[in-house]
Amino acid sequence: MKAVVYDRYGPPGVLRIEQVPRPTPGDGEVLVRVRATTVNRLDCHTREANRSNGLVISGVSRLVSGVRRPRQPILGSEFAGEVEAAGPAVTRFRAGDRVFGNTGLAFGCHAEFTCVPETARVAPMPASVGLEEAAAATDGALNALWCLRLAGPLQGRRVLVYGASGAIGTAAVQVAKVFGAEVTAVCGPKGVEAVTAIGADRVIDYTTEDFTSDREGYFSVFDAVGKESFAHCRGVIEPGGTYLATDGPRNLLLGFWTSRFGDRKVKFKLPPRYTQQDVVLIKELMEAGSYRPVIDRVYPIEDVTEAARYVETQQKIGNVVLTVGDR
Ligand SMILES: NC(=O)c1ccc[n+]([C@@H]2O[C@H](COP(=O)([O-])OP(=O)(O)OC[C@H]3O[C@@H](n4cnc5c(N)ncnc54)[C@H](OP(=O)(O)O)[C@@H]3O)[C@@H](O)[C@H]2O)c1
Repeated sequence: MKAVVYDRYGPPGVLRIEQVPRPTPGDGEVLVRVRATTVNRLDCHTREANRSNGLVISGVSRLVSGVRRPRQPILGSEFAGEVEAAGPAVTRFRAGDRVFGNTGLAFGCHAEFTCVPETARVAPMPASVGLEEAAAATDGALNALWCLRLAGPLQGRRVLVYGASGAIGTAAVQVAKVFGAEVTAVCGPKGVEAVTAIGADRVIDYTTEDFTSDREGYFSVFDAVGKESFAHCRGVIEPGGTYLATDGPRNLLLGFWTSRFGDRKVKFKLPPRYTQQDVVLIKELMEAGSYRPVIDRVYPIEDVTEAARYVETQQKIGNVVLTVGDR
């Protein structure tokens, strides 16, 4: 099968298209013919062994992905396609089913075929949703569900999403609305249109307005892009409220500290736990019209290097999709 492979950590140029053996599903696995996948920040961070995040994080990244070289030569964590074959013990899916999901750190989706355990993060594709949208549906939404749930019930609460134009941000705005929150979204000028279209109650362009001078406080401030800090946002968080983060070792320490001291809590928990039920929930939200992934660009898989370079600009609005094979 055709796949995008890499055998050393580095910039997007280490990626190349190759013919590799098609994987064989184990007893409880399905073989998925991938029709669409994405390039996301997890792919890019893993490909460069997190070098841009410093030596310590890079060391941890190599422990997870392979110390000298990547153990898994095929990146890509999101997929949409059809079940090509099912292992003998599989009961939930059969050949021909349209499915979507997320392989997480197992990766393997930048290829014509990938194997997924039937109990993993795979679900039937939402009705009347295209392959490109389904492929882009999970990364941001799983992250957003994981982080926003840490805040507790959000019904009727004011929530601010910072970095609302990214993959996690665009999903977080919609997930927070589903949880019943009143959502203020903060993004740069080029994200305003997209973020307004997905239902934010209020959109703040950070180049013209400083949300930290807002008089009304927020129950939760969610930094969906890893560019803010608890110290900077603390003044707009209500007593008893939370600061939610997507990354940053300092947020782990602050989480520990504020769980004991202070009336505003930092909530950040590793490793994230995403379940098949979460993917089923994402399917249901899409079918109900409450969630749709924002797609910025679509590339054929042959242009994966260009797609990765674009994702690394950190300027994408929502998600970047790769199409695989003829459709
Ligand atoms: N997605 C993943 O798989 C993954 C995995 C692990 C960790 N994370 C972490 O999760 C965070 C977000 O990931 P993501 O994939 O959602 O990001 P993303 O889609 O790459 O975010 C891109 C968006 O962020 C906005 N942005 C860039 N700099 C900003 C700033 N200083 N302030 C506000 N907005 C800014 C950009 O628009 P403007 O420049 O116009 O504002 C752009 O729309 C990151 O911290 C990442 O390391 C992501």
